[in-house]
Amino acid sequence: MTANSKAAPESASQTSADEKHDHEDPEHASHGHAHAGHHGDTLKHYLEAARVAVSVRSFAEDYVKPGLKLLDIAEKIEAEITEQGAAPAFPCNLSLNEEAAHDTPLIGDERVLKDSDVLKVDFGVHVEGHIVDQAFTVNFDNQHAKMIEAAQQALQDALSVMKAGANVRDVGAAIEEAIVTRGFQPVENLCGHSLAPYVVHAGVSVPNVPRGDYVFQEGDVFAVEPFCTNGGGKVTDGQLDEIFSMVQEKPVRLPQSRKAVEFILEKYQTLPFARRNLLPALGSQASVDLAVRDLTRQGILHDYPVLVEINKGMVAQAETTVIVEKDGIKALV
Ligand code: CO
Repeated sequence: MTANSKAAPESASQTSADEKHDHEDPEHASHGHAHAGHHGDTLKHYLEAARVAVSVRSFAEDYVKPGLKLLDIAEKIEAEITEQGAAPAFPCNLSLNEEAAHDTPLIGDERVLKDSDVLKVDFGVHVEGHIVDQAFTVNFDNQHAKMIEAAQQALQDALSVMKAGANVRDVGAAIEEAIVTRGFQPVENLCGHSLAPYVVHAGVSVPNVPRGDYVFQEGDVFAVEPFCTNGGGKVTDGQLDEIFSMVQEKPVRLPQSRKAVEFILEKYQTLPFARRNLLPALGSQASVDLAVRDLTRQGILHDYPVLVEINKGMVAQAETTVIVEKDGIKALV
């Protein structure tokens, strides 16, 4: 998943993540993001999440084909993560064409993948809250192969400048350069992000352009995810609103909302989930929609609207998760 320029509410979610998981990673509270180098269990959990992410990615690269329903693709990928002994860190994002991110199949979604679609397959794996986030882009008629290559090259170039002591601004510069020299535009208001236990967007952004001012430290864990487009180079909120996460706890009165909160706290904590994930707890789409509307209005849930390219340009993405080392990075997937 990506961070956009309005993604501030994620830092609010750290409050409850910190309360619950401080004991697992004492460094988390002070730095606001994970340090995988200094804590035995932390590294062990990341490496286990990485093992599952590599395996599920290779499964997904074979499995995703035109003619499949998006709902089946998402559910199959999520089931594969669970079968391998980990858990999805967020709903599998399947964003089509001018959608850059945060689309995931709706309850009863009938959409079918076409040859001509540019599909971003973005999923995350977590082990005890330690998240490995990855994405790849497919386009079966190859009309947009060059744009997909630009995103992949931007990712490689970004990783080649990352190390302890490097500035996030230089990573943005490498991404922009790789994309612009290939004739495309970086999506300027989307970013990679630091990761922390049970927090997908832990506060530090890695932009697609030379912006920001953070010096990487050894042991930092980052999702790096260049986005490029043949459109205007910016995204805005679209109509669909399928992904949510809990950002604060307070008493609720509506029975459907109460049931939803109980289920979310037990199953997702501060991690994102989709409307379809609430169906087993609430029984009907009407109840899910009612609870989600109520909880979002009260500020208990934060929503992640689908992000759409401003000129309806096609968008490609490549993403991996890395641990920053003294002289470079260790890519986890
Ligand atoms: Co991400």
